[in-house]
Amino acid sequence: MSFTFQDFPAARDDLRADVLAGLAAHPKAIPPKYFYDEAGCRLFDAICAQPEYALCRTEQTLMATHLPDIAATLGEVDCIVEPGAGDCTKVRLLLDALRPTHLTVIDIAGGPLAAAAQAVSRDYPQLAVAALAMDFLHDLEAADPCLPAGRRLVYYPGSSIGNFPPDAATALLARFRRLAGAAGHLLIGFDLKKDPQRLHAAYNDDAGVTAAFNLNLLARLNRELGADFDPAQFRHYAFYNPVAGRIEMHLVSLAEQDVHVAGERFHFALGETLHTEHSYKFRCDEFSALARTAGWQLAGEWEHNGFAVQLFR
Ligand code: AVI
Repeated sequence: MSFTFQDFPAARDDLRADVLAGLAAHPKAIPPKYFYDEAGCRLFDAICAQPEYALCRTEQTLMATHLPDIAATLGEVDCIVEPGAGDCTKVRLLLDALRPTHLTVIDIAGGPLAAAAQAVSRDYPQLAVAALAMDFLHDLEAADPCLPAGRRLVYYPGSSIGNFPPDAATALLARFRRLAGAAGHLLIGFDLKKDPQRLHAAYNDDAGVTAAFNLNLLARLNRELGADFDPAQFRHYAFYNPVAGRIEMHLVSLAEQDVHVAGERFHFALGETLHTEHSYKFRCDEFSALARTAGWQLAGEWEHNGFAVQLFR
């Protein structure tokens, strides 16, 4: 039916400022959203194909299996909104089942998003597709005027919510609630707490793909900020912290060294960490309680092999 593309350059993130602030902090840390340059996206796809990292495959199976029940619980939906939609593959299943009139996909990588959304628009000629290139963490509210009135479903799959600390996750869920409106729903996927050995293996795959994904962050800073990180002088280090209920991912300095980034010098002591990601794991009751504090009410819940999807109204 129609395809529109809107760019929100003012809402883009600021790699340079965030990295300089993160390297000046104690402990040093860089937000995980910066993993996803072109190489990082390819490496993430490769992680999803590793035997140890079942998260993406499991969610696909769960959705395919329970979609009729999810659709029946949801009722009619006019518009699906997917923040962080990437290549727009996951939402296709929902389009088939729910047949909304509108789809709005949001992602920071405008070029790939536009191409993927246009392909969706070709395959679903009855659907009005809008692609919004923006960093939704900065400016999700700018999406609201681009959405039609009616029953909205915010779709946030892939356990991306687990990459936020609990306070930030609650704040994001509250922003989703405002975006969904009074008659809206949220369908969200998250990874469950399970055998810590299984979790550990998922972030320490034998082929070293997760290590390459983590280290690519340094290569990105070298490419985009003229930094001089030597990736061979850092070790990928990921472990499950059962007290905090999260995987922690770090790059640990293998030597005492100075690194230059955007004209500034940063010292790493031997063994000092650069923290790159938290990946929180939940029990179903924990997650629904978190969402409740953001104003959502649980409407349905589906589980498969250590992964869960919850529906909120
Ligand atoms: C995108 N996100 C849900 C992944 C996760 O499992 O937290 C990112 C990832 N990091 C290492 N492997 C995968």
